[in-house]
Amino acid sequence: MNIVIVGAGGHGRVVLDILRYNLNVKLIRFVDDDRDSHHKVVDGVPVLGSTGSLPELVARHKLDAAIIAVGNNRVRAEVFNRLRGLGLRLENAIHPRSIIARGVEMGEGVVIASGAMVNAGTTIGNNVIINTGVIIDHDNVIEDHTHLSPGAKLAGKVTIKRYAHVGIRATVAQRLTIGEGATVGAGAVVFNDVPENAVAVGVPARILKINGAAADAERLAESDAALESGAIQSVPQASPPVRQEQ
Ligand SMILES: CC(C)(COP(=O)(O)OP(=O)(O)OC[C@H]1O[C@@H](n2cnc3c(N)ncnc32)[C@H](O)[C@@H]1OP(=O)(O)O)[C@@H](O)C(=O)NCCC(=O)NCCS
Repeated sequence: MNIVIVGAGGHGRVVLDILRYNLNVKLIRFVDDDRDSHHKVVDGVPVLGSTGSLPELVARHKLDAAIIAVGNNRVRAEVFNRLRGLGLRLENAIHPRSIIARGVEMGEGVVIASGAMVNAGTTIGNNVIINTGVIIDHDNVIEDHTHLSPGAKLAGKVTIKRYAHVGIRATVAQRLTIGEGATVGAGAVVFNDVPENAVAVGVPARILKINGAAADAERLAESDAALESGAIQSVPQASPPVRQEQ
C-alpha cells in the first residue's frame, strides 16, 4: 500500500512511526497545507505539497490510502470528507503495542497510539484519535471525528459524541455522555454528562463555557452594536406565511 499522511506536524510524526510497523505499507508520503513544510523531509519522509494538490499527487505517486494526522476535530472531519471524495481509502494506524479487546468494532482513519487499551464491547467510529496511553473501558461508544488525548481514561459505558475532545489525563466516570463538540479540559474528572459544545474543567469538572453559545452571543452583540451605530439597517419583520388549508 502507498499511503499519504495529511499533516506533517508532531501528530503526523507519531502516525508515521506507527505506520512503519505495518509491513503492508510500501511507500509513505506527507502532505501539509503549511507551505513552509513543502519539499522538506520529516523523519525521512518528503512533504509533497498541500491537500489541494492531492488529486494530481494521488496519480503521480500511485497513492491508494490516506490517514489524517490533524488534531483539530472539525478540520480533520472536513479533510476526511474531501479525501473520501477523491476515492482514497482511509487507513487505520494501530500501534502494535496497544491492546484492543477482541470484537471491538472500528471505522476508517482511526489512529490508536502506543500503550492505549480498549476493552470489550466498545465501538469506535471513523477518523478517531486514541492517543498514547488512553484507557477505554468496556462498552464505550466513541463516535466519529473525536480525539482522546494522551492518558485520558474512560470508565465503562461512556459515550463520546462526535467532534468531542477529551484533554490530556482527563477521566470520565461510568455511563456518562460527553456531548457533540464538547471539550473536557486537561486533568478534569467528570462525574456528570457534559452538554453539547461545553468546555468542562477541574475536579470535579464544572462547565467553563459553552463554545457555540458564546460565539453566537458575541456575533449577536456585534450585530446589535452595528445596528445601533447605523452601519446596518434593521430588516422589517415579514408577515407570517399564510397556511393553505387542505
Ligand atoms: C479547557 C481548555 C480547552 C480551555 O482553554 P481556553 O478556552 O483557552 O481557556 P483559558 O486558557 O482562557 O482559561 C480560562 C480559565 O479556565 C482555567 N482552565 C483552563 N483549562 C483548565 C483546566 N484544564 N483545568 C482547570 N482549569 C482550567 C484557566 O486557568 C482560566 O482560569 P481563570 O479565568 O481563573 O484564569 C484548555 O485549557 C485545555 O485544558 N485543553 C486541553 C489541552 C490538551 O489536552 N492538550 C493535549 C492535546 S494532544
